[in-house]
Amino acid sequence: MANKIQICMGSSCFARGNSKNLQIITQYLKEHNLDVKVELSGLRCCNMCAKGPNLTIDGVEYHNVDAGTLVDILDKAFKE
Ligand code: FES
Repeated sequence: MANKIQICMGSSCFARGNSKNLQIITQYLKEHNLDVKVELSGLRCCNMCAKGPNLTIDGVEYHNVDAGTLVDILDKAFKE
């Protein structure tokens, strides 16, 4: 099971969806009792704004993450 999420908090990613994505992630971790097991941290702009909103889970990069795809990504990473 994955144990680390890094979400880009740069202004482009944040404005284009990571603000909402962050809320979805924190809620997901809470609901699945993962908030103590999974480290969630923010990143500065990683110069991939055009592909954003960006986040990584255990080093795997995800781009253009929106509310529709995020839960699927989280399910894949954390439901094993
Ligand atoms: S703001 Fe996220 S890559 Fe630039």
